[in-house]
Amino acid sequence: MFSAKQIIDKKREGLALSTTEIREFMSYYMTGEVPDYQMSALAMAICCRGMTERETADLTEAMRCSGEAVWEFDPKRGDEPLPGLPCPAALVADKHSTGGVGDKLSLIIQPLAAACGLYVPSLTGRGLGLTGGTADKLETIPGYVAGVSLDRFRAIVAETGVSMAMQTPEICPADKRLYALRDVTGTVASIPLITASILSKKFAEGAPTLVFDVKCGLGAFMHTRDEARALASSLVGSTKASGRKSLALVTDMDAPLGRTVGNANEVEEALDILENKASGPSLPAAALCIEFAAAMVSLAKDIGRGEAREMCKARLADGSALAKFKAMVAAHGGDLDEFRRTRREAKMHRFRISAMRSGYVTGIDAKKVAQISLRLGAGRQVQTDTIDPHAGVDFAVARGDRVAVGAPLATLFTSTVPDALEECAAELLSAFTIAPAAFTPPPLVIEEVG
Ligand code: URA
Repeated sequence: MFSAKQIIDKKREGLALSTTEIREFMSYYMTGEVPDYQMSALAMAICCRGMTERETADLTEAMRCSGEAVWEFDPKRGDEPLPGLPCPAALVADKHSTGGVGDKLSLIIQPLAAACGLYVPSLTGRGLGLTGGTADKLETIPGYVAGVSLDRFRAIVAETGVSMAMQTPEICPADKRLYALRDVTGTVASIPLITASILSKKFAEGAPTLVFDVKCGLGAFMHTRDEARALASSLVGSTKASGRKSLALVTDMDAPLGRTVGNANEVEEALDILENKASGPSLPAAALCIEFAAAMVSLAKDIGRGEAREMCKARLADGSALAKFKAMVAAHGGDLDEFRRTRREAKMHRFRISAMRSGYVTGIDAKKVAQISLRLGAGRQVQTDTIDPHAGVDFAVARGDRVAVGAPLATLFTSTVPDALEECAAELLSAFTIAPAAFTPPPLVIEEVG
């Protein structure tokens, strides 16, 4: 006889829940027989007591099964194509990032992996608070519709090899409801709940290979290496336990990634990288894209990482990744010529900040930069806010660069809050640390969990 209270009691006492208990709890939650207050109580008990890998896998599966899948993954089907896809199932792969400041890498990695022969069904989201959303960035391209139907999403992946679209209402509705509760009940920060939330959506894509970018540092969800490593191990362990291939790279998020933080400016930077025009602060971001795409290609094609890396470099250099990006944008209704025109003609208020002392840039506080971008209009404080597509920050320097007094450091843009520019500029200046001694920035990849 099902009793929500007994299940909550059991978890509160630190005991492991059975597969049936987890499945029933989630299914009664979705029918409304388990009310929000009991779901919140269980979430808090999980937060305090944790879950085993098996329980986390059961919760993931219960949430994935609350809706439809893009494709059903079946480890036994191996090389058979997925319905509608002209490739063996093994070639379907995706990458997930836990979210960072200036993190436009998906705009490059997913098309690059597709240019190497993979099929990439990538469900993505909108930004909220300090985290940016890939869907928001893509929708700064006039005409781009991220909110396509599930059928259209499948068709775009089949036609072009890659689609980046919003999670549809059919996918993991349990996660959507539970996440909204967690957000207001102090239960977001739990490794098993985060793992189940991320993986239920990624598993619904049907990809047998999943690579994770677990960001670590001032501008990330996970501030310390230990926290980031624990999340990476949980994501990779649970993904492998489901019969899929997986790898995580824990990457540095103390400083913003690349040259831009915002939305349209990040798309422009992604295009520069895809067009092999990356320079200055974009170069480390471009190198990181190669690493992630190589991890996907090496796992999905079962080839060495070195060979996969060379393939990715070649597909970026010969314009194939750019061609995949353009095909995906066109399939979603986007017009890149119009994007370039809006960028040229955007009437923005701007403010340039310059170095007050000479020396080496040793730090650019990613969290402060995210807060400033949000204030300039590049993000949302609440879900209903609209984004100022051209607002944000462009950096002239990166960590490790030598600057003289008066050298430009960054430019701030906004069209909606010109009065805030001066204050934001002062705050941005305080995000820079400039010291006399030469400084080598740490590598972006902190460690690999596989
Ligand atoms: N991202 C998700 O999708 N879910 C979480 O719980 C945290 C981050």
